[in-house]
Amino acid sequence: MDIAHGSRHEAEMIDPFGRSIEYLRVSVTDRCDFRCTYCMAEDMTFLPKKDLLSLEELDRLCTAFVEKGVRKLRLTGGEPLVRKNVMHLVRQLSRHLDSGALKELTLTTNGSQLSRFAAELADCGVRRINVSIDTLDPGKFRTITRWGDLSRVLEGLEAAQAAGIAIKINAVALKGFNDEEIPDLLRWANGRGMDLTVIETMPMGEIDADRTDQYMPLSLLRARLEQQFTLNDIPYRTGGPARYVQVAETGGRLGFITPMTHNFCESCNRVRLTCTGTLYMCLGQEDAADLRAPLRASEGNDLLSQAIDEAIGRKPKGHDFVIDRRTNRPSVPRHMSVTGG
Ligand code: GTP
Ligand code: 5AD
Ligand code: SF4
Repeated sequence: MDIAHGSRHEAEMIDPFGRSIEYLRVSVTDRCDFRCTYCMAEDMTFLPKKDLLSLEELDRLCTAFVEKGVRKLRLTGGEPLVRKNVMHLVRQLSRHLDSGALKELTLTTNGSQLSRFAAELADCGVRRINVSIDTLDPGKFRTITRWGDLSRVLEGLEAAQAAGIAIKINAVALKGFNDEEIPDLLRWANGRGMDLTVIETMPMGEIDADRTDQYMPLSLLRARLEQQFTLNDIPYRTGGPARYVQVAETGGRLGFITPMTHNFCESCNRVRLTCTGTLYMCLGQEDAADLRAPLRASEGNDLLSQAIDEAIGRKPKGHDFVIDRRTNRPSVPRHMSVTGG
């Protein structure tokens, strides 16, 4: 599948750097039933429920983006499957798959609720999902997520596979925590027909841990993996930031997401919407556009469409993430769970 370079929609959103915006990530809730230590502080304040857009409003916003050329839509969180009645939204959005306007409707999930929803997701046309698993050791899993239950997540994976949904496992590489385990994670994922992507931790939001201690450059991880595995670069793309290799020994794919060591911003094709209707044009920058006011100002989409154009017109070139001993504040104060990555 090649969504990034697929056929172009008639309407196109082009940013000031000539990048075509075809991928919308929508955080449907900032809440999560886990508290991954690299993502959240233990004691988080979440948005009051009254500030959330309704599912109908989220649908209207997503639809406006689809009409403006978005071809790939990913629901994120927090944890998207803890949003009440989220399947109603998925069902509504699936009409854009049926019409052919949308190429992919998908989600990134921690998997905790997946066994409940897998069959219905498949029925709505979700063909592929991304599930975060940083370790296969139940005790370490509980530690990193602060209270996650690995066995429930594994049940969720089985339900998704039984429903015919392809899975990509996301693992944030954390020095001294799971870096030694990545070979096992790779054999496990590929052995079950799943892709694995490893991710460099990004300095977003105050957390309790020290990111400098946790940060693992993937160039180093790759060199270590190459002592055991034969990794061949392949042109496979999903429209996301990962760059993939084929692993000869497992016959599967491994992706590297390297915001810190190799900036992929020059080919960025995405923007992200929060559950309050704020549009972030870059994960690593603070600038944002309020789409809630134009959404609520009228029943038609003219104002909204104008506000989206203005926002895309100031999409920045890229992020300026820094992780080092001298910089002990996060590059971006907002937590990852506000935008879902
Ligand atoms: P695919 O469709 O499978 O390619 O998904 P994806 O990689 O786009 O999405 P996913 O939600 O699995 O995100 C994986 C990681 O990539 C997360 O840590 C995201 O924060 C990160 N990511 C996605 N888009 C961006 C981006 O534009 N900039 C940065 N810095 N990170 C991103
Ligand atoms: N840096 C990198 N990835 C992160 N994620 C959450 N927080 C961070 C961070 N600080 C990942 C999750 C999930 C995806 C949406 O983002 O593990 O897979
Ligand atoms: Fe929840 Fe995902 Fe953040 Fe973990 S990374 S706390 S699962 S939003």
